Amino acid sequence: MHVLVLSGGLSAERDVSLRSGRRVAEALRTDQPGWEVAEHDVDGLLLDRLRQHRPDCIVPLLHGAAGEDGALRDVLESLGIPFVGSGAAASRLAFDKPVAKELAVQAGLSTPPCVAMPQSTFRELGAPAVLDAVVEQLGLPLVVKPTRGGSSLGTAIVHTAEELPAAMVGAFAYGDVVLMERYVSGTEVAIGVFERDDDLLALSGVEIVPPGELYDYAARYTAGTTEFFCPARLSDETAERAQAVALNVHLLLGLRDWSRTDLIVDAEGVPWFLEVNVAPGMTETSLFPQALGAAEESLGALTAELVTAAVSRSS
Ligand SMILES: Nc1ncnc2c1ncn2[C@@H]1O[C@H](COP(=O)(O)OP(=O)(O)O)[C@@H](O)[C@H]1O
Ligand SMILES: [Mg+2]
Repeated sequence: MHVLVLSGGLSAERDVSLRSGRRVAEALRTDQPGWEVAEHDVDGLLLDRLRQHRPDCIVPLLHGAAGEDGALRDVLESLGIPFVGSGAAASRLAFDKPVAKELAVQAGLSTPPCVAMPQSTFRELGAPAVLDAVVEQLGLPLVVKPTRGGSSLGTAIVHTAEELPAAMVGAFAYGDVVLMERYVSGTEVAIGVFERDDDLLALSGVEIVPPGELYDYAARYTAGTTEFFCPARLSDETAERAQAVALNVHLLLGLRDWSRTDLIVDAEGVPWFLEVNVAPGMTETSLFPQALGAAEESLGALTAELVTAAVSRSS
């Protein structure tokens, strides 16, 4: 088996992706010493490489745009190369937070109310009037984030109306459309989901306790700054409800192989869906590998299983 792990790319999450790719490639090599496992960046050399030395399967571990929005997966699909993870169309739905949230609402799940605002609308209607209307509708505090982003880049919690314009500018730096979402206070939990044979399985939730109010970039990738609890400190019933949301989201968006759903469980035990990731982080401090470890599952063995499944579904 010749497997190519793709990581890097030009998104703001390039460094995280390189670390995810390295970790998965090493885990695969350890689990499958007989396989040829190579790593490649997403750059001008990639397509030549694929043509000259076509892999049996690709593991895309790109975070952010291109890797998670479906664009690269479209290319892989058109080349007919099997890959691990969701297809292009499903990835596109998942990567756009307002789209994924709307589909979740239609399926009866709870997700914080929000307004998505393109920069042009904001400019045309006049920023102060628009922001006043949003604060009136959603209340405070609000979470401001790019609709198509990741790793909390450009994300801020806004406590007063005065803080909102600066937060919008910060989020627009990462994309043309910004989501203003009602802040939910509670326990932040990430739930990894994976497919095995014909089953869809949810891992135990990983509870995230960041040093500040937001699980921001520094809290994610500086080891030791954030406390994690796996399983999350929830009642069995609440934990199962949260897992059911993650399974439901994976199914209703038509995702494949693996995903990670981020949610906040409020004081009443209601899980509020925030977003789902088709290329979950796989670094040393990432959530999906932590949950796998707690379940005594090996990252290398699971990836190998999914590689084998990807190759056989396309043959
Ligand atoms: N509505 C919300 N209420 C409370 N905290 C939130 C909310 N939305 C996001 N957050 C915080 O911001 C982080 C990033 O948000 P998320 O929607 O997961 O985007 P991404 O991980 O793609 O940057 C979350 O992990 C959480 O700490
Ligand atoms: Mg997230």
